[in-house]
Amino acid sequence: MSIQQVPFITLNRFEPGFRDEFLGGVASLFDKTQFVGGPIVGEMEANLAKYTKSKHAIGCANGTDAIQIALRAVGVEKNDKVLVPDMTFWATFEAVVNVGANPVTVDVNREACHWDLATFQKAVEQFKPKAAVMVHLYGWVTPQTLEIRKYAQENGVILIEDGAQCFGTEINGESVLGTALIATTSFYPAKVLGASGDAGAVFTSNDEYAKNVRTLINHGRTDHYSHGMIGWNSRIGAYESLFLNLSLKHIDARIKSRMNAVKFYEESLQGLPYKIYRAASNVTENGYCSVGMIDPGLRPKLIESLKAANIGYGTIYPGAMSKQSGAAPYLAGKIDNGNAHHISQSVLNLPCFAYITSDELQYVVDVVKKSF
Ligand SMILES: Cc1ncc(COP(=O)(O)O)c(C=O)c1O
Repeated sequence: MSIQQVPFITLNRFEPGFRDEFLGGVASLFDKTQFVGGPIVGEMEANLAKYTKSKHAIGCANGTDAIQIALRAVGVEKNDKVLVPDMTFWATFEAVVNVGANPVTVDVNREACHWDLATFQKAVEQFKPKAAVMVHLYGWVTPQTLEIRKYAQENGVILIEDGAQCFGTEINGESVLGTALIATTSFYPAKVLGASGDAGAVFTSNDEYAKNVRTLINHGRTDHYSHGMIGWNSRIGAYESLFLNLSLKHIDARIKSRMNAVKFYEESLQGLPYKIYRAASNVTENGYCSVGMIDPGLRPKLIESLKAANIGYGTIYPGAMSKQSGAAPYLAGKIDNGNAHHISQSVLNLPCFAYITSDELQYVVDVVKKSF
């Protein structure tokens, strides 16, 4: 059957038997009235910790809460300054504001699309922040992740890592989530490790932070009706935990399939005005999305070709954080070298999801090639 459309992303490709295994598990949880909490959550957290090689992995309601919880757990308070990248998903900025702190946007590097050490240093010197949220976009990390971690630690800046897009990603052969001081992720269904609904997690090597996280996600409870902190309800559901447990068994195959797509695009789309970008050589990517850049003036024509061929695409992200209309009242400062804006105007993401077929990939490549 010839391919006539490819979605940007689809959530309906699972391994044979996955659906039945999940539904069977749901029936069993239902019969035990295990809806929130229970052994399934502990089991899932142990599996997450094992996979990511983290000391503590704690499930919560979603990836935005995870950042807010992490900020609160490390002691970020009202009016503290927190650095965030100018290129990220809005939730990173939002989380800082939601805990009462003041976000400072810091531009990214045009080639690596992430922070670099020099700009980070400049921002720390200029703004003297309490904390920073480093975001690992596209399933990559900055090649200078370890240098930024070291600099932050030596200069008293608490570094939180928003790993919503980097589950399974490695730096110098080590798990990014497992080696961070404190990191967060999202299990929104479209993520590399998705759940059956909204969910997220916090990972940390610090025992005190882990204790704070557990308290914050459950109404600041120290006992059932004793409350030591103002927290909120950010508990993870049992069905989501079950889904994550089952998905973790297949995560390596899913990442392999996504990376196959990324590599195929890179190899097949050489020598065009549209160039596939990859993470630096010390980073092992997870294939969260395929990233390509094109001259902003040529992007509309490529988009038209994709639309005409029923191919989904993304522009992750179409605007810098500091330029969002909702940012202005909260922005406590910025370092803007024009790079996040340039990336937002140049980026174009091709379809990339687990178990995309070789026919689908070939169809996308043919359409992109023909559009020039
Ligand atoms: C970088 C980043 N941070 C935070 C989030 C928020 O996660 P959630 O949608 O689970 O709240 C996302 C989700 O898309 C994200 O990509």
